[in-house]
Amino acid sequence: MKVAVSFLSSPKTREETIKLIEQSDADYIHIDMMDGEFVENTNCLVPEIKELFKETTKPLDLHMMVCSPNKYIKDIAKIKNLGYVTIHYESHRRPIDVINQMKHANLKIGIAINPDTKVSHIVPLLHLVDQVLVMSVVPGKGGQKFMESILYKIESLKDIREENNFHYIISVDGGINEETAKLVKDAGVDMLVSGSYITYSNDYNEAINNLR
Ligand code: DX5
Ligand code: ZN
Repeated sequence: MKVAVSFLSSPKTREETIKLIEQSDADYIHIDMMDGEFVENTNCLVPEIKELFKETTKPLDLHMMVCSPNKYIKDIAKIKNLGYVTIHYESHRRPIDVINQMKHANLKIGIAINPDTKVSHIVPLLHLVDQVLVMSVVPGKGGQKFMESILYKIESLKDIREENNFHYIISVDGGINEETAKLVKDAGVDMLVSGSYITYSNDYNEAINNLR
């Protein structure tokens, strides 16, 4: 099981938290990019990401909670150590256009869906993506409660992948802790995104292992 760690909410400073994730067994550093429009808060726009991660070597899992993600792709493509770059289905009138732009920029593409967005909406995009990010909270802040009502989406994404031989990984983001990790693992997820469960623990590696 892959684990990506989000530093959005942490009792430590941002720099200290990133350093601890960098030194841990986490597979990815999950970056929550927010424009104050798609979600209320603003966080980690491109110049800040470049500054924060100029010395890190762990792969980045970039979660773009922004309107019109197409505006950012050119600059994002210049960031080092990019793993996945994920846009929200709800963030653009024609997500397919953004995905094509991302393909041209040679990015590994993720598509995220909010808790109230059905899998059927993204079916026409699934052959093009490398990751599907299922949101288990309303995006915007850390420390929220996991919504069990999203579990069926993980199961259907798994079925669709099998039936069609698609290659995307299924990730889940929001409210992941030891208990909810079990639920999503049973449903068939490939990667967990976890923030406060890790950042409020005393030992990042122990917490990460509890999730795997
Ligand atoms: C929520 C963010 C998440 C969040 C996860 O909008 O996308 O990545 O930081 O934090 P926890 O694990 O605390 O829910
Ligand atoms: Zn996120």
